[in-house]
Parts: sequence; structure tokens; C-alpha cells
Amino acid sequence: MRTRAAIVHEYGTEWSVEEIELDPPKAGEVLVKMHASGMCHSDEHVLTGDLAGATAPLPIVGGHEGAGVVLEVGEGVTDLAPGDHVVFGFVPACGHCEWCVRGHSNVCNNSAAFTTGRQIGDGTARHHTLGGDDLGLMCLLGTFAEHTVVHESSTVKIDPNWPLDKACLLGCGVVTGWGSAVYAGEVKPGEYVAVIGAGGIGANAIQGARAAGARSIAVIDPVDFKLDMAKRFGATHSYKSIDEALGDVGSSTWGRGFDVIIMTMGVGDGEELGKAFWLGNKRARIVVTNIHPTAEQSIQIPASLLTLFEKRIIGSLFGSGNIRYDIPRLFELYTQGQLNLDDLITKTYTLDQINEGYEAMRRGENIRGVLLYD
Ligand SMILES: NC(=O)c1ccc[n+]([C@@H]2O[C@H](COP(=O)([O-])OP(=O)(O)OC[C@H]3O[C@@H](n4cnc5c(N)ncnc54)[C@H](O)[C@@H]3O)[C@@H](O)[C@H]2O)c1
Ligand SMILES: [Zn+2]
Ligand SMILES: [Zn+2]
Repeated sequence: MRTRAAIVHEYGTEWSVEEIELDPPKAGEVLVKMHASGMCHSDEHVLTGDLAGATAPLPIVGGHEGAGVVLEVGEGVTDLAPGDHVVFGFVPACGHCEWCVRGHSNVCNNSAAFTTGRQIGDGTARHHTLGGDDLGLMCLLGTFAEHTVVHESSTVKIDPNWPLDKACLLGCGVVTGWGSAVYAGEVKPGEYVAVIGAGGIGANAIQGARAAGARSIAVIDPVDFKLDMAKRFGATHSYKSIDEALGDVGSSTWGRGFDVIIMTMGVGDGEELGKAFWLGNKRARIVVTNIHPTAEQSIQIPASLLTLFEKRIIGSLFGSGNIRYDIPRLFELYTQGQLNLDDLITKTYTLDQINEGYEAMRRGENIRGVLLYD
């Protein structure tokens, strides 16, 4: 069939919205009509080339934070049927590899296919340019498209009454941010938390820290709008830079330093990470959720403090969560009024407006921009 998608053909350019050819689903795959897709900063890394080597070679269909309706299922798919509503997990969870059974499905072995961008089942592409070139898929999904074909292990069936425009956010930003605080950071009641970068991920790290009972939640972001919005999600202190926050640790943490520091800047930066290290109390957990350019091969931290103050640096993918547990559970928290999804969506766009949406993200205007499909 023919459909339309936003593609990166060359790093450092713009998203190209064009018609593509999409093959029917093969064994273990499903065809999904997209309803909504969040515009996460990770797709911006695809466009700039900051994720080169970690994602599929170009050309690639972007988007990994999506929700839609199943239209057709391939051979052997028994858990899904046409008409089912799904949120995609940006990491697939096969359910039976070593990592899935150890409770870490966020690093499921199926994600080895990320670097090829081809289908998990047989390593070939279902998406092609009209010129006949195979297209890779961001996170094996390609949610910046009106339709896509993905492996069933990337899907989570949800209640058909849940609004898909909000539900799409669960596919990356919400669980990633929330889990960075709750799972990776293991925030405990009464702890002091700092969140560096208050965009789509940081806003949810703040919500996770609040749910876990943090005593104070300091947010650091150079953009005033982000600091204002952060208060709605639970921030108690705000600063425009790490330096400013360092100068005020006395009042924000009663002189102790932060117990958990969560890095959620747009582009990870070794120098900022080094500075953030100084915000920490003894035994501080520094969670690195933001993605550093693949070209950045080293960071500078005072390593002696790792030992002498037992500080810890923890990388976190998908908030160290589990797509089949956390996506429905966090949506349930929203329906109970315990999680704010409404204020995450600043503006919606059509697929043709995708470059406008990313321009707004670069200018700091959106917590999340969301693409809506007809
Ligand atoms: N680990 C994962 O599983 C995972 C998942 C999704 C996104 N990410 C990464 O998380 C990061 C954040 O993504 P997002 O979608 O929230 O981006 P975003 O653009 O919505 O938000 C980033 C925020 O960082 C702020 N910022 C920029 N420089 C800063 C600085 N020096 N100090 C403090 N704040 C600064 C920006 O003003 C912005 O508000 C990206 O690197 C993204 O690729 C990681
Ligand atoms: Zn994302
Ligand atoms: Zn697995």
C-alpha cells in the first residue's frame, strides 16, 4: 500500500514528508494506522546525526512515541486483532530473552535490531521509498508515518477507551522520565532530587520524583517557560543553570546536596554532567537519561569522589521500565488524577508540519509537540 512518512535522507537537513510503499505484515508483525506520535528529542538526534551508529543507516523513518489502531495482523500473531488499540514501546519486549525474564525488558535482546532498523523477524524492510530503496525505522517503529508495520513485541494493547493522543506519550517520554526517578534513581520519601532539563522527559522525571515522595525537587533549565511548567508537575525550586543551583544547595537541600540527580537535557553534555556531579550528596545517584552524541567518547568527573563519597552514575533506557507493566499502569494513574498528561502536550501538528514542530522544540516552546493523524 501507499502511505506517507517523515524521513531523514541526510543528517543536518529537515524531515522530508513523502509517500512511501509499505508491504503487508509478515509473520509476527502488525500493520497499524497511526493516530498520534510525540516528537521526542531522540528523533532530533537522528536528524542531526548525534545518534549515528546507534540507529539505522539513512534513509530512516523517524518517530518512536506512538499510538494507533491495528488494521491487519501477520501469520502467528495471536495477542492482537484488527481494531485493537496499541501503544508502541520504543524498546521491544519479547518476553523470553535473558533480559526480559530477569525483569529488564527495556534492554530486551530484540533491540539489537535498532542499528539495522529492519524488521526483527527476518531482518528485511517493509518500508520503501517510491524509488525502491529500503527504509530503516527509528526504534523499529517509524511512528512519523500514517501507517507502519512493526513486530508484535513492540506493541502494548490498551483499553480502547483511552485517548490515543495522550496514550502515545506513554511509549517514551512519560515512562522514561517517571522511571528515571522511580526505578533508575530509586527516589525515596524525603529525598532531595534535581532534574536537569525540563522538557518532555524532565517533566515526567519531576512527576516520578513527586510520586516517590521527594522532599524537594529542583529543576534546572535555561528556559523560563519550562521552569514555570515544571511547577505544575511538582518542582519546588527552579534555577536557570547548574551553577545557579550549586550556589543555592544550602536552601534547596537543607545543606546536604541532592540524593538523586536526573540528567534530561536535550543533548547530553559531558561538561554539564561533570558539574552536576557536584550537586550530589554522599551516595548520590546521578541518572543519565539524556543521550550524549555518539561522537562524545569521554566525560570528565572527579573520579575520586565516586569512591570517597560513594557517588554513583546510572545510565537509564526507557526509565529502566517494562513496556507491558508501566504503560498501562501509568495511564491508570492518569485516569485517577495522579499523573498529569494534559499539560505535557503543548501543541499538536499535522505530519506536514513536522519541521515546524521541531523548530518549536528547538526554541524551547513545547513540553511536547504531538503529531495527530486523520
Ligand atoms: N534514555 C532514554 O530512554 C531516553 C528516552 C527518550 C529521550 N531521551 C533523551 O532525553 C533527552 C531529553 O529529551 P526530551 O524529549 O525531554 O527533550 P526536550 O528538548 O523536550 O527537553 C530538553 C530540555 O533541556 C533543556 N536544556 C538544554 N540545555 C540545558 C542545560 N545546559 N541545562 C539544563 N537544561 C537544559 C531545554 O531547555 C529543554 O527544556 C534527550 O537527549 C533525549 O534523546 C532518552
Ligand atoms: Zn523518546
Ligand atoms: Zn526480550
